Formats: sequence, structure tokens, C-alpha cells
Amino acid sequence: MHSQTGVEIPGITANPRVVDVVQPLIDRVQDLIREKNVSYDEWHQAIHFMMDLANSGEMPLLMDVFFEATVDAVASAASASSTTAIEGPYYVPGAPMLEPPCVMPQRPDEPGEPLVFSGTVKTPDGKPIVGALLDVWHSDATVPGTYSNIHPGQPAFNLRGRLQTDEQGRFELRTIRPAPYRIPDQGPTGRLLNALGRHSWRPAHVHVKLTADGYQPLTTQLYFQGDGFLDSDVASAVKDDLILALEPAGSNGGSHLTLRYDFQLAPTNH
Ligand code: DHB
Ligand code: FE
Repeated sequence: MHSQTGVEIPGITANPRVVDVVQPLIDRVQDLIREKNVSYDEWHQAIHFMMDLANSGEMPLLMDVFFEATVDAVASAASASSTTAIEGPYYVPGAPMLEPPCVMPQRPDEPGEPLVFSGTVKTPDGKPIVGALLDVWHSDATVPGTYSNIHPGQPAFNLRGRLQTDEQGRFELRTIRPAPYRIPDQGPTGRLLNALGRHSWRPAHVHVKLTADGYQPLTTQLYFQGDGFLDSDVASAVKDDLILALEPAGSNGGSHLTLRYDFQLAPTNH
């Protein structure tokens, strides 16, 4: 039997949730060490790996790659809002507030195909939500894409912006099409993926955090049809109904791609 469970010791206050979740985690690792005959050498390698991970600052990255999609699945199971997805490690609060016509902050020579992202925010029964706040962020169009405020080379808050829905619950944002993203492959997370025989790519995506007074907040990502990494996302975060068509559109101002999505927000439970 496993040690320590259920013993009451004066002066020690067990946290029932920790007993419920972390004790089985420890038990399972112990079982695995026995089952796989883990050696002292491998055990020391595991310790060094975790120290490298902590020192590299990649702890949030590794947690997101391997576990956030599962946390998202649990968190969103009972929600009447539209489909959620992981936040990932690269959200930065405080992005510039944009006013219509909304244009994403970008360099004067920002590479990438022009993209117009538009849609609506409504209640589950179809009423427009006025003044809903969309916080949008995505990588640039270099391959692999990089994120401002995280990777060097872009001005602060490049390709990050906030905008609100209008009187009909509509929004429109002019930006550029992001590239597929590769998580750093030189650090401990990349080395582990390599040792697992897995690549470190995510399909191109647009992140959205959506909030509105009286409604449950929503975090999601939108993906593009035809992307080569949809079926092998390193973060396992793609959901079918978040894969959208990029439709070409033209106007006398030049051609662009359009990305359309209609969000639903469920009211807050009182
Ligand atoms: C992860 C998610 C992202 O959206 C991203 O851009 C990079 C990494 C992740 O889950 O690790
Ligand atoms: Fe991302």
C-alpha cells in the first residue's frame, strides 16, 4: 500500500483537494518507476530536466504544451458559450484600445497578407451584445511566427489590440495573416518533444479573449483551413469548429483575406 494517506498527525492540516489530486499523482509516478524499471541515472536526468526547465523560464510553456488543452476541456464542458481554446503562454494584458475602423498595431512594413477579421458577439438566443471587448493577439507572418513582447524584434504590442462590438454586436479588425508558430526548440521543452519524436509546431492561429459585463469570459483561438499542422498541433488545442475558411475579397483599396466568426457568450450565473 501507499504510505502516509489517512494518517492524522497533530499540528498538520491536510488540504483535502491536495490529498485528492496530488497524492494519486505521486502514487502514479511511483507505479511508473516500478513498471518501467526507472534507473538512478534516469532519475537524476529527470531532476536535471526540471531544474533546467525552471531556470529557462519555460515552465509555463511546457505546462501549456502538455496540459492546458485538458484543463480547457474540463473548464468548458458545461458552458453555453461558443467553443473555447487554450490561452497559451503569450497573452499580455494592456494591449492598445482600437477605435473603428480598427487596424491592428503593426510596423509600417509589416510582412504578411492583409486579413480582415470580422463577426459578431451574441447571446446564446441570438441577441447582440453591445460593447463586448475583444482582446486579440497573434504572431507575425515570418515563418515561424513570433510574438511581440515575448520574442525580440517587434515593437511592444505589435499585432496586439483591443476593440469593442458596435450597437449591433459587430466587430471588424484589419490585420495580417499570422504564420504557423514553432515553440522554442532549443530549450528543455523542445528537447523533450524531440526525444518524444514530436515536432514543435502549432498551426497558425488568432487568439481572442472576449469579455462583456454580465457574461462569462471566453478565451479561444481561430485556425485556418488547409494549415499543415492542424492534425499535429504540438499543444493539441485545435477543435474542428475553430477551423475557418480564409476567403479572398477584393476592393478598390486592394485585395485581402477575410476571416469571419460569430461568438456566443453565456450570461454569468448568479
Ligand atoms: C502554446 C500556445 C500558443 O498559442 C502559442 O502561441 C505557443 C505555445 C502552448 O500551448 O504551448
Ligand atoms: Fe499562440
